[in-house]
Amino acid sequence: MILATGATGNVGGELVRALAARGEAVRALARSPDRVTFPAAVQVTAGDLGAPESLTAALAGVSKVFLLGGFPTLAEVLRRARGAGAEHIVLLTSRCVVGGNPENAVTRPADIAAVAATVLTGPGHRDTALTLSGPRPLTPGDQVQTLAQVLRRPLRYQPLSDGQARAQMAADTPAELIDAFFRFFSAGEFDDSPVVDTVHRVTGRPPRAFGQWAEAHAHLFTSG
Ligand SMILES: NC(=O)c1ccc[n+]([C@@H]2O[C@H](COP(=O)([O-])OP(=O)(O)OC[C@H]3O[C@@H](n4cnc5c(N)ncnc54)[C@H](OP(=O)(O)O)[C@@H]3O)[C@@H](O)[C@H]2O)c1
Repeated sequence: MILATGATGNVGGELVRALAARGEAVRALARSPDRVTFPAAVQVTAGDLGAPESLTAALAGVSKVFLLGGFPTLAEVLRRARGAGAEHIVLLTSRCVVGGNPENAVTRPADIAAVAATVLTGPGHRDTALTLSGPRPLTPGDQVQTLAQVLRRPLRYQPLSDGQARAQMAADTPAELIDAFFRFFSAGEFDDSPVVDTVHRVTGRPPRAFGQWAEAHAHLFTSG
């Protein structure tokens, strides 16, 4: 049994569907499982990564875990997952762009999920840190321009100030993580623009371009 956390989100949702399509036994973690719909074969279990004691049922009988990072409780969640018998844990640590207009070789959720599905179900890549990227670096302004072309609408990139970005992130992101994001991406400690071949190497398929993602999700940007 594979436990997928973040299952109601972009990456975890793609992963649950990819694993179910491969015929894998998969359990999706959600804080509000009643509001989630997945293929019938997928188990949906309640649990909160911020409250490790709530994960007992979700971890029961699990041999592999796809785990979202970024929670202060990570060490305790890992301890409980190992204690429950999970031998293979894929941890997703996030990158995020705040402030300014820096280049980011952004990776599509479906490509992150495809790498995770391959790593969770295949023999290789154990005890390895994989760095992912999309096919080319893009600024947020580049992405807005691509969206404008796909949606055939005039769109303009308007960056948030650091204060606005902090306030927005504070709604659901721990303060330590927000500080780290600003150190990495606003103060320039971290360069997220390099393109790497990991998606192609691990999955056998090149990463999708931002324009392909925009075409596939254009309906989400139209009102009514
Ligand atoms: N999307 C991308 O292209 C991309 C690229 C690189 C890295 N990442 C990173 O990958 C991670 C997931 O990205 P995403 O786009 O899938 O995020 P998302 O769509 O915002 O989904 C976030 C997920 O986290 C879950 N979650 C939040 N707080 C939780 C808690 N306390 N306990 C259990 N689950 C909780 C949410 O579940 P609930 O239903 O319980 O709210 C939801 O399923 C993020 O850290 C992101 O920074 C994403």
